[in-house]
Amino acid sequence: MKNFTFCTTKTIVNEKGGVSRIAEFASGLNCTRVLVVTDKGVVAAGHYDKLAQRLSAANIKFFSYQDVGPDPSEQMVYSATEIATRNAIDCVVGIGGGSALDVAKAASVIAKTKIRLDEIFGIEKVAGTRLPLILIPTTAGTGSEVTYSSVITAADGKKKVVISNKLYADVALLDVELTSTMPTFVAATTGIDAIVHAIEAYTSVNKKNPISDMLAIEALRLLIGNIEQAVSEGDHWESKSKMLLGAMLAGQAFSNASVSSIHGFAYPMGEMFHLSHGLSNALMLSPILKFNAPAAAREYGAIGKNLFKEVSGDSDENATAFLIRKIDRILASLNLDKKLRDFGVKDQNVEDLAKAAFSQERLNLNNPRKIGLDDARAIYQSAF
Ligand SMILES: [Fe+2]
Repeated sequence: MKNFTFCTTKTIVNEKGGVSRIAEFASGLNCTRVLVVTDKGVVAAGHYDKLAQRLSAANIKFFSYQDVGPDPSEQMVYSATEIATRNAIDCVVGIGGGSALDVAKAASVIAKTKIRLDEIFGIEKVAGTRLPLILIPTTAGTGSEVTYSSVITAADGKKKVVISNKLYADVALLDVELTSTMPTFVAATTGIDAIVHAIEAYTSVNKKNPISDMLAIEALRLLIGNIEQAVSEGDHWESKSKMLLGAMLAGQAFSNASVSSIHGFAYPMGEMFHLSHGLSNALMLSPILKFNAPAAAREYGAIGKNLFKEVSGDSDENATAFLIRKIDRILASLNLDKKLRDFGVKDQNVEDLAKAAFSQERLNLNNPRKIGLDDARAIYQSAF
């Protein structure tokens, strides 16, 4: 067996309505002055008010940065940090989708260390500590509440990542009530993102390990088994809870095992066409599963056999084909069986996309099938 290290968030609370206990969690970390990092959608949905009322009632002073947007920028991190510094904040609470949580993570480091993002982009470059950090997801997808990364769009327009064990939060709070206000499209695309996290963690060449494998399989069981009902039935708490849990387990898995080329091919679509992270992954999922299948039949087959009794005794190839058909059916039922051209990508863009995806070395290294530049062109063409 290969050596491995597995890290995750220290405290994970899975509790419907648990956001009402925010003051308790903050006090448990000795927090007296809290910065809440969030976005306008969370405020409009009333989730921020719920949290603010509880902090007020417990006499915990709080301030907020509510302007996180999609593909969060360096400036958002610095604006949040500035509020933290000006108000002598001693704790950061992120509540929202992956973008808000990623800004909260970065702000918790910078408010404490005063270093610049440029100095910490990359792997394990965070020196010193961060402020206490509580992360509360309002989507069931990114798993950001339990991951060690923060994806920020740098001043040059490129997405850059801070990767550090210091970014594991002190508390991740899963409150399914907060996911009930997600628009259908967001629920579908973030749910697919979570499925991609689990599949890529399970097939990661270099960093998969027995714990990430176990988490990825259980995540896929929950996600694949519940995504359609959770998306279509707004108040079906059972399926929504399973999606939230599945997305968190997938986050734990990929934070240790890494994602790979589906994400590598999705990132340039976010950078060049501003497609959401979940949608970009949804568009690349099936084409890359099909490209990888000849090299990943053992792993894809194991997923298929673990999840579907119809193929539990079949060959790896049959179980792989069953899994891919199942994924295609789910994408179709969520109305996500779309092509790049449906979202403004032109034929002549394929070359730039292929070059950008080919250069995502950190991710492609973990893909179960080696990808050359010609392969990258062919993959985008098949998704086009
Ligand atoms: Fe993702």
